[in-house]
Amino acid sequence: MNQDELKALVGRAAIEYVPEGSIIGVGTGSTVNCFIDALADVKRRIRGAVSSSNASTERLKRHGIAVLEAADVVAQGARLPVYIDGADEIDGRGCMVKGGGAALTREKIVADLAERFVCIADASKRVDVLGRFPLPVEVIPMAAAQVAKRFEAIGGQALLRAGVVTDNGNAILDVRGLAIADPLAMETEINQWPGVVTVGIFARHRASVCLLGTPEGVQTLNFA
Ligand code: 5RP
Repeated sequence: MNQDELKALVGRAAIEYVPEGSIIGVGTGSTVNCFIDALADVKRRIRGAVSSSNASTERLKRHGIAVLEAADVVAQGARLPVYIDGADEIDGRGCMVKGGGAALTREKIVADLAERFVCIADASKRVDVLGRFPLPVEVIPMAAAQVAKRFEAIGGQALLRAGVVTDNGNAILDVRGLAIADPLAMETEINQWPGVVTVGIFARHRASVCLLGTPEGVQTLNFA
């Protein structure tokens, strides 16, 4: 099976995690696109979705799936039972690097509304230590150079992602050279830097479950 087939496999497998009658959180990326396409077949089972990007919103609507505003879910005092999204990397504790598709801020917001995060990924995303994939960081454009300098001081090389403006009107830095041995500590530290909107480390919002696509089939990783 090639990588696209593995993504399709876990996209379909995630349907099992969609509770009847619920509003669910939907992530962004090529793996999530497979999930959205599979969701279209059972769309009458759900009340709708809160989306993490304009791209996913468009795809959901094209399939006739209702897209709800996060603010309305909050106003109703509701929580999403599940948030389903991909990852660029996932470690043995369910901590992830995300943001390859530049949607990390809204992804973290929707993940925060959910009871649990179900990560769907092909086996190439499973790593022992996060940091091989360049760490995406959404920044206020004015602060990009300043934040890049701070990364330099901790051994990272930050590069502005050319031609990319996020759904929130900001810039993305991709940071190479970091070994993220303590994801929670690094997420907490970088979040404090002025001008950082969101760092692509998901340790506070780590996965509860990962459906990993392998040549042998879907491997389910449960994280305590
Ligand atoms: C988008 C993301 C994606 O989940 C991540 O980049 C994985 O994408 P794909 O499923 O296309 O490999 O974080 O911001």
